[in-house]
Amino acid sequence: MSNSSSRLPLARYPQLRMRRLRAQSWTRRLVAESRLSAADLIWPIFLIDGINRTEQIPTMPGVERLSIDLAVKAAREAAELGIPVIALFPATPPALKTDMGDEALNENNLVHQACRAIKAARIPIGIMVDIALDPYTTHGHDGIALDGRIANDETVDILVRQALASCAAGAEILSPSDMMDGRIGAIRTAVEAAGYKDVLILSYAAKYASGFYGPYRDAIGSGKALAGSTLYPSDKSTYQMDSANAHEAMREVALDLAEGADMVMVKPGLPYLDIIRMVKETFAVPTVAYQVSGEYAMLMAASERGFLDGPRVLMESLVCFKRAGADAIVTYYALEAARRLAGKA
Ligand code: PBG
Repeated sequence: MSNSSSRLPLARYPQLRMRRLRAQSWTRRLVAESRLSAADLIWPIFLIDGINRTEQIPTMPGVERLSIDLAVKAAREAAELGIPVIALFPATPPALKTDMGDEALNENNLVHQACRAIKAARIPIGIMVDIALDPYTTHGHDGIALDGRIANDETVDILVRQALASCAAGAEILSPSDMMDGRIGAIRTAVEAAGYKDVLILSYAAKYASGFYGPYRDAIGSGKALAGSTLYPSDKSTYQMDSANAHEAMREVALDLAEGADMVMVKPGLPYLDIIRMVKETFAVPTVAYQVSGEYAMLMAASERGFLDGPRVLMESLVCFKRAGADAIVTYYALEAARRLAGKA
C-alpha cells in the first residue's frame, strides 16, 4: 500500500469519468481491490454437553450452542464450503467451574472431546482452541485471582498445561486470548519441548478490554459471574488493552512475534480497523481480525428489527476487514457467508 498522492490521476473530468469503471457488474468485479472468499473465514462454534442438543443464544441471533455430535456435523459442512478453520468454545456446566479453572486441564472437557471427535471423523478442517481460563473459572476471568489481582505468572503456568492438553487432543492452532505477559514464549517453549513442532500459535496479540464481548460471555456463561463478582475486579482492564491505544498494540504484536507466534489477531474488529492496518503494514505477518459477538449482535439485532439488511451489511463488513489488511476473519457469520459466496443462500 503506497502513498496514494504519488499516483494522482493525470486526466480531469470529462476525460476522466470515475463512473465508467462502476457502470457494469463486470467492470466492478474486474477492478475490485479486495476479495472475500470462504478461505478467509474462521468459524467459532460453542459447545454444550449431551447428544443431539442445541441451545439458542438470545443475544446472538442465528448462533446456537451445539452438542459435540452436532458440532462434528457442523464442522463437516464448514469444510465442504471451504472454510479452513473452526474455533471451539465451551459452555462449561456451572458445576464444573472452579476458582482455579481446573476443567481447562481436563483431557475430556468439552473442547478436548470435540477436538478428538472432529479428528476421528477425518474432517479436513483446522481446529483452533482458545487458551484462557474464562470458560472454566467461577469468576469469569481469563486467569486466576490471587489477593484480588489476576496473577500473571501463576496463570501462565496453568495456560501452558492447558495448551499441552489441547495439543494432545489434536488442536492445530492454539489461540491464547488471555493477554498475560510472557505466555506466548512459555507456551511455544513447552509445546516445542513436548514434540508438537508444527502446532500453530495465533496470538490474540492486540486484544482490547471491550464492551463488545458481552454476548460471547452470555454464550459461555461467564458474564454474570464477572459482573457479579465482589471478590475480584469486575472487568478485564488490568490485562486487556485500553481502547485509546494504538502504538501499544504494536509493542504487543512485536513481543508475541518475538516469542514465537505464527499469526496475530486484532480484537474487536470493525471499531479497530486502524489497528489491523497498522499491524499488517508494520509487521507483514498473517493478521487475523475478530468480528466479535457484540459486533455480530448489533448487525443481527438491527436486521431483525428491519432497520438494516442483515446479509448485506454482514457481507459488506467482511470485505471491509479484507480492505483494511486482514488475511482472515473470525466471524459468527462464517457459515452463512460461505453459503452465500457459494451461491447456496
Ligand atoms: C476470552 C475470550 C473472549 C472472546 C474470545 N475469547 C472474551 C473475553 O475476553 O471476555 C470474545 C469473543 C467475542 O466477543 O466474540 N478469553
